[in-house]
This record gives sequence, structure tokens and C-alpha cells, in this order.
Amino acid sequence: MEKVAFITGITGQDGSYLSELLLGKGYTVVGLVRRTVASDSAKMVNLSRIREHERLIMEYGDMSDMSSLTRIISHHKPQEVYNLAAQSHVGTSFKTPMSTVEINLNGCLNLLEAIRIIDPKIKFYQASTSEMFGDNIKCPQNENTVLSPVSPYACAKVGAHNLVQTYRKSYNMHASSGILFNHESPRRGENFVTRKITMAAARIKLGIQKELRLGNLDAERDWGFAGDYVYAMWLMLQQEHADDYVISSGSAHSVRDFLNYVFEHAGLDPDEYVIIDPKFYRPCEVPRLWGDSSKAKRILGWEPSVAYKELAIMMYEEDYERESKKSQTKD
Ligand code: NAP
Ligand code: GDD
Repeated sequence: MEKVAFITGITGQDGSYLSELLLGKGYTVVGLVRRTVASDSAKMVNLSRIREHERLIMEYGDMSDMSSLTRIISHHKPQEVYNLAAQSHVGTSFKTPMSTVEINLNGCLNLLEAIRIIDPKIKFYQASTSEMFGDNIKCPQNENTVLSPVSPYACAKVGAHNLVQTYRKSYNMHASSGILFNHESPRRGENFVTRKITMAAARIKLGIQKELRLGNLDAERDWGFAGDYVYAMWLMLQQEHADDYVISSGSAHSVRDFLNYVFEHAGLDPDEYVIIDPKFYRPCEVPRLWGDSSKAKRILGWEPSVAYKELAIMMYEEDYERESKKSQTKD
């Protein structure tokens, strides 16, 4: 039988890696794109490798518009739905709390309801997050760690996480949540701290940027590679029973550590270029995220393959190449 997957958030970092994985496995992939995304816009860059693929179908819609989700699911009849769409920037969620909740919480409910009504046998993946642990610094954090969200983003994600568990219990739906810790790649949005650092290092090295403004350097994160993490999403939907799983690299590093490592690799001294700017501080900070993914290893057989330093260098090298090509075109 033809396998069909519906992915929301397909233009994002994870959506693009997941699409490549599923197309490689023979799936037809249906992706949700917002009307605001022109087919030639920068937002489509992540999909550049697969845009012409004959089994990739783009459908216009929006997480806040249940009728669009219902239309797409009724028409394409996917067996698997991956809900990756979100306003995913934590800092921004303090500035746009209402739309963040609308997309990240109500959007998830719209999708769960559409599936329940159309075909409750459809398998569902929800992009939950380590951000839900918030200011609970009991580490390492696992599936039983108490959630203590401290941002509108995380509050919305906790609501969605609870809804997924509720739909699983109430309607016997195959609905799973991946509690994913931070994962990065050369496709990471430019306003997330790792990519902001690797891009700045590349641009400073090339003489096209003079300084780098950052916020809290003391926060610690458990960073892994996005390509590894989307494989865990797929594995969750191949299990007989739905469940929740922590996906993490198993080690934590501070933002300062990441900064120093990348700048050292580039042959730059951070003290010469980095300015601490209060603008990038958040009203409330998540001090430490460090995950324990032993359940995923035991049940899914999942393990990360790219280590922290390898990831940092991969991102820097790709940014350096991209930025130097751009500056040569301008000459
Ligand atoms: P991302 O790069 O920011 O991608 C977000 C995607 O959501 C984009 O395709 C965006 O479309 C789409 N979107 C936003 N609002 C929408 C709306 N109203 N209707 C339809 N689509 C909408 O995020 P990511 O890093 O790939 O993360 C994927 C998911 O995992 C998110 O839910 C995020 O919260 C969660 N998560 C991420 C991490 C991480 O470290 N990356 C960790 C844990 C959980 P546009 O292109 O139109 O903006
Ligand atoms: N973005 C950003 N920009 N963060 C900065 C900066 C800066 O200039 N300076 C310091 N930071 C600190 C933030 O305060 C935070 O403590 C840390 O760097 C990481 O910030 P982000 O890269 O924005 O990621 P995040 O941890 O807040 O959220 C990401 O990971 C979550 C999973 O834990 C996002 O991908 C979320 O969508 C995801 O759920």
C-alpha cells in the first residue's frame, strides 16, 4: 500500500530533514505551507534538495485554520501525521504570546480533532520539547521529570503535550510525543543561538561582520543534530503502541562554551567581537537542559550519531562556505 505522511512545518529545519528521510523510504509526503510562503522565497531554501521530487506535494493551509487541515487529511488520507509547525522561538513568544498559543496549542488541537473525526487510526507525532522542563533543573531530565514551563512557548507546548496524552487515553489514538532537546544543523533558523554564533564567526572571519551581540551566555543546553532527531520521530510512529520519549544527546554545554569552541575553531578571539546586549535576555530563563534518552535507546533502538563538537564545526564550515560564495557574487 502507498504510504502517505502529512507534515506540518515542512519548510522548517526538522520538516526538511524529515521529508528527505520519508521520501527516501518511499513515502508520498504532503507538506503544509502557509499562503505567505512564495515558492521561490528564502523559506523554501531548506527544501531545495527535494522540491522537484515527484512524491512531494505542497498544500496551502494554516495551523490556526482547522478547515484547511481537515481538507488536506480528507483528500490525501495519510497514515502518519507529523505536527512540527510552531512559532518555535522562545524569546519571541514573550512578544507574541497569543499567536504562539494559537499556533502551538490550538493548532495541535485542530489537528487532533481533524484526525479523530476523519480517521482515528492515523498515527500522530507531536513535537514536544525539553523547554517544558523550564526552571526544573533536576538533571538529567527524562519522561518522568516534573514539567515547569517558564515561557508562553513552553506553556503552549505543555498544553499540547497534555492534549496528546488525553487523546491517546480517551480515544485510543496512536498519538506520541517526542520530548526533543535542542537540535541544530546548517538549516537552523538564524535567530537561534548556535546558528547566530556560527554565522557570525564565518562573517567576521570573512570581514563582512564586525561584532556579535548575545544575551545570557551561562544557559546550558543539550545540543544534538537535527538529522538524527527526525529519525527518532519516524521510529516512534513505527511502534505498536504510542508513547512519549525523550530524545537528547546526553550532555550539556553552556552557550559560552559553544561560542568559545566555534570562535577558537575559526581562529578568532570572542573577547574582541562579542558584546553582551540585554535585548537578548528573556524575562525568564531556562537555566539548564540536559536529557536522559535511555528509554528511546531501550525501546526504539535510537542513539545520536553526531557529537557536539562535530555539529558545531559542521555548522560553521557550511556558513563559511555559503557566506564566502555570497560575498564573491557581490564582487
Ligand atoms: P522551525 O525551523 O522554526 O520551523 C517551524 C515551522 O512551522 C516552519 O515550517 C513554519 O512555517 C511553520 N509554521 C509556523 N507557524 C505556522 C502556522 N500558523 N501554520 C502552518 N505552519 C506554521 O522549527 P524546527 O526547529 O524545525 O522545530 C520543529 C518543531 O519541533 C517545532 O514545533 C518546535 O517547537 C519543536 N522543537 C524544536 C526543537 C529544536 O531544537 N529545533 C526542540 C524541541 C522541539 P514558515 O516557513 O511559514 O514560517
Ligand atoms: N536565540 C538567542 N539569541 N538565544 C540566546 C542569545 C541570542 O542572542 N544569547 C543567549 N542566548 C541563550 C538563550 O537565552 C537560551 O538560554 C539559549 O541561548 C538557547 O537559545 P535558543 O537557541 O533560542 O534556543 P532555546 O533553547 O531557547 O529553544 C530551542 O530549543 C527548544 C528545546 O529545548 C528552540 O528550538 C525551541 O523551539 C525548542 O523547543
